[in-house]
Amino acid sequence: MKSNQEPARRVKGVRDILPEEAAVWRDVEQTARKVFSLYGFQEIRIPIFEKTEVFVRSIGETSDIVEKEMYTFTDRGGESLTLRPEGTASVVRAYVENRMDNLAGVQKLYYTGPMFRAERPQAGRFRQFHQIGAEVFGTENPAIDAELIVMLMDFFGALEVEGLKVSLNSLGCPQCRPMYREALAGFLKKNMESLCADCQRRVERNPMRALDCKSAGCKSTVSGAPSLENYLCQSCRESLDGVKKPLFDLKIPIVIDPGLVRGLDYYSRTAFEVTSGQLGAQNAVAGGGRYDTLVEQFGGPPTPAIGFALGMERLVSLLKQPGKVTAPDIYLIAIQPEAESRIFELGHRLRAEGYCVDRG
Ligand code: HAM
Repeated sequence: MKSNQEPARRVKGVRDILPEEAAVWRDVEQTARKVFSLYGFQEIRIPIFEKTEVFVRSIGETSDIVEKEMYTFTDRGGESLTLRPEGTASVVRAYVENRMDNLAGVQKLYYTGPMFRAERPQAGRFRQFHQIGAEVFGTENPAIDAELIVMLMDFFGALEVEGLKVSLNSLGCPQCRPMYREALAGFLKKNMESLCADCQRRVERNPMRALDCKSAGCKSTVSGAPSLENYLCQSCRESLDGVKKPLFDLKIPIVIDPGLVRGLDYYSRTAFEVTSGQLGAQNAVAGGGRYDTLVEQFGGPPTPAIGFALGMERLVSLLKQPGKVTAPDIYLIAIQPEAESRIFELGHRLRAEGYCVDRG
């Protein structure tokens, strides 16, 4: 029968993950659980929405995410809520709220699930996308930063993903970054007319945003800007060296990229990104860094922390293995209607014995 209804369509920028691809996602998630548990990580499950302020105060009011990409709504009680655009803010909120700082030792947590950003959809960029993330609380030892990067590369290695590049930088700390911000803001003010409207607006409040602005004018202007590298304090330099050394020792190919700044404001010191040449414009498969002051900002005790998140859609597009859907071991067909109750009962028994049974 022909329907005159228009077929229902999904919302722009979201995807359906059909069974064959879902099988690949399951393998990827299982591999993450296996590899991460070898490094002592435990799973945390965080809500899909939070009070809006959780994201605003951590990701930063002048970040693209907060300024233009959040799915924010007012609930029936008049409270402003937001679909999570990333996981770190929620994990920090959960860490503080559940007094996880009282637990013994360093806390290592991972999470998986959908995130929501109202970005302009394009290849590799979605409005609902999925991350696997990992966060470590309670140590500023740079060896942990290195170990986290090694864990991420072990995970990619277990999935046989090749040709990845790891870029590393230090974003400075509350001691040295203000001096750099001032120098950068001074430079940008002198070149105001070549900046895009967004960056002109942000020069006072967040000049570092101009460093990863995609507009051509900003890109060419910031190529002549002062470099944060020259402003790092002694302890930031030592910390960066402490991250680099174990990675060099393990022959993990990293590139020091002084131009690497992240799109979220909570970072200090270590920042890193893993990119692939096979992904086109949206080439970052994973990104992360230290956020040593965020737990305190959320009302917890001073607690250094670091983490990363990887994008499932981008990762899955790099995998070579097609997904395998489960095929039945046994197929039952009732040729006569009287046999219907027999195959129902037989199917039930065989499944209890562990067979995958399908039926006509
Ligand atoms: P992020 O760099 O915003 O960092 O996102 C991490 C990864 O999520 C990206 O490298 C990319 O693979 C994927 N991703 C981001 N946006 C999209 C999108 N619109 N469509 C598809 N994939 C996307 C964070 O989210 C931080 N929370 C990472 C972190 C954890 N830092 C410390 N701990």
